[in-house]
This record gives sequence, structure tokens and C-alpha cells, in this order.
Amino acid sequence: MTQSLKGRSVVVTGGSKGIGKGIARVLALSGAKVAIIARHLDQAEAAAAEIGHRAFGVVGDVTSLASIENAFATVAARNGSIDVLCANAGIFPQARLEDMTSDQWDEVVDTNLKGTFHAVKAAVPYLKTSDQGRIVLTSSITGPVTGFPGWSHYGATKAGQLGFMRTACIELAKYGITVNAVMPGNIVTEGLAGLGEDYQKTMAASVPLKRLGTVEDIGYAALYFASKEAGYVTGQTIIVDGGQILPESLEALA
Ligand SMILES: NC(=O)c1ccc[n+]([C@@H]2O[C@H](COP(=O)([O-])OP(=O)(O)OC[C@H]3O[C@@H](n4cnc5c(N)ncnc54)[C@H](OP(=O)(O)O)[C@@H]3O)[C@@H](O)[C@H]2O)c1
Repeated sequence: MTQSLKGRSVVVTGGSKGIGKGIARVLALSGAKVAIIARHLDQAEAAAAEIGHRAFGVVGDVTSLASIENAFATVAARNGSIDVLCANAGIFPQARLEDMTSDQWDEVVDTNLKGTFHAVKAAVPYLKTSDQGRIVLTSSITGPVTGFPGWSHYGATKAGQLGFMRTACIELAKYGITVNAVMPGNIVTEGLAGLGEDYQKTMAASVPLKRLGTVEDIGYAALYFASKEAGYVTGQTIIVDGGQILPESLEALA
């Protein structure tokens, strides 16, 4: 396991729950000083207290550039600067295309895609001063690779994050900042639990490794992209899905 995050200042948006909390925990255990950003400060602070290792919570809403700039200024004041941004905050409410309202579309795009832009834009002034600036996006298999009823807006944002990444990584390369993305399959989180037990059972049955993922499964992939050792890797993705995208038919899983 890499130790290169020792003393590094890390920000995880949406770190109070689920995948973000898993990323925050893995990076904190690797020696990083982790700031957890979420809209509910009490939940961000509770997650930080649970993780320990100098983690702390800061309030911030990725849909507002000013809010996230304030949050990052608070982190930089406390930690000296910011070396690693994990842009993870995201939502996945379901609505079929024929029923979807324009407001529902906007809510998902504003959080997942515009929110990624806000977090990256607000982090760049700090990452530029780091000798090892790293940006790790949480995308998904849904959108870039697969589709699922009810998630046309969500899938568009997750594919959009990868399009954003491929230009951002070129623009930021001159500062030595890398930009990469983790693409999770179905991971057991508070958000996923909200989709119900039937959804989780059906999904687990469609995974060759026969289980849903853990938040730490994603945390370890994020740790690699955040590490010093990944300094020559940029604009890349890693799918962490137990092989879920691979079977060409249900029989292939037998
Ligand atoms: N779970 C999966 O199977 C799965 C699969 C593929 C990709 N993903 C991606 O992984 C990420 C996290 O998903 P999850 O399942 O861990 O979700 P989750 O359990 O619902 O947690 C979402 C986190 O994001 C925060 N958040 C939501 N809106 C925010 C906003 N506007 N500003 C700041 N923070 C915000 C939440 O805190 P507050 O509510 O306090 O703000 C919470 O910390 C998302 O980007 C999602 O698309 C998840």
C-alpha cells in the first residue's frame, strides 16, 4: 500500500456518506488530512469523527460556486493548502424520460456535472501550488458504459464528467495536476439503499463476482489516482464493478 498521502491535504465532496465516506476513510488511513464537504454540516462532522485521523467536516454545496469556494478556503486555512480533490458529490433520483420534468433534469445536472466543474474550478488555485496536485472524479458505469431506466439525466452527467475530464486534464497538465475518474458499479451506500432491496438483489445477481461493491472498493481505486505513484497517469478511468458490464447474456452468468 502506498504511503505517499502522508500529510497531504485532501478534500472529498459528498464525503459524509457512502462512496465519499469510503474514499475519505481510505485516504485518511493512508496518512492524509481529509476535509469532508457536504450540505449537512452535522453529518460531515459525524463522518469525520467516525473516521478520525485528523479528518474534519466543512459545510459546502457543489451547486453553488461561492459556497464551494468558501468551503475550500476554510480547508486551506486549516490545512495550509489543498493537494487532492475528490469530486464525488452526486445524486441519483429516478425519473423515466416521459415523466421527467425540466426541473428534475436541472437538479441532477447542477449537482453532478456543474457541481464537478465548480469543485474543480474552486480547487485549481490551491492544487497549482502543490507539487503533486490530484483530481479524482467519481463517475459511474451508468452513462459512460451502461444504461438503466430512470437515469437518462444521471447517465448524461456521468458521461459528461468524463468529457469534462479529458479537456481539464490537458489544461491542468502544465501545473503537474492530474485528473482521473473512478467508475463504480453498484456500491452499497445510503443512496443505493434508497432504491430498495429488490433493486439491490437484482443488481447483485447481475455481477459476476456475485456481490455489490463496498465503499472501500472505490476508496482504494481513488487512493491510487491520488497517490504520488500515479503521477504519470492522467485523463484515465478505472471501472470498479465486480465485472458487471461484461456478461453478454444472463446465461453468461450461469
Ligand atoms: N452508490 C452507487 O452504487 C454508485 C455507483 C456509481 C457512481 N456513484 C456515484 O458516487 C457518488 C456518491 O454516491 P453515493 O451512493 O455514495 O451517494 P449517497 O450515499 O447518497 O451520498 C451522497 C453524498 O453527497 C453529498 N451531496 C449531495 N448533494 C450535494 C451537494 N449539492 N453539495 C455537496 N454535497 C452533496 C451528500 O451529503 P449532503 O446531503 O449533506 O449534501 C452525501 O455526502 C455520486 O457521484 C454517484 O453518482 C454511486
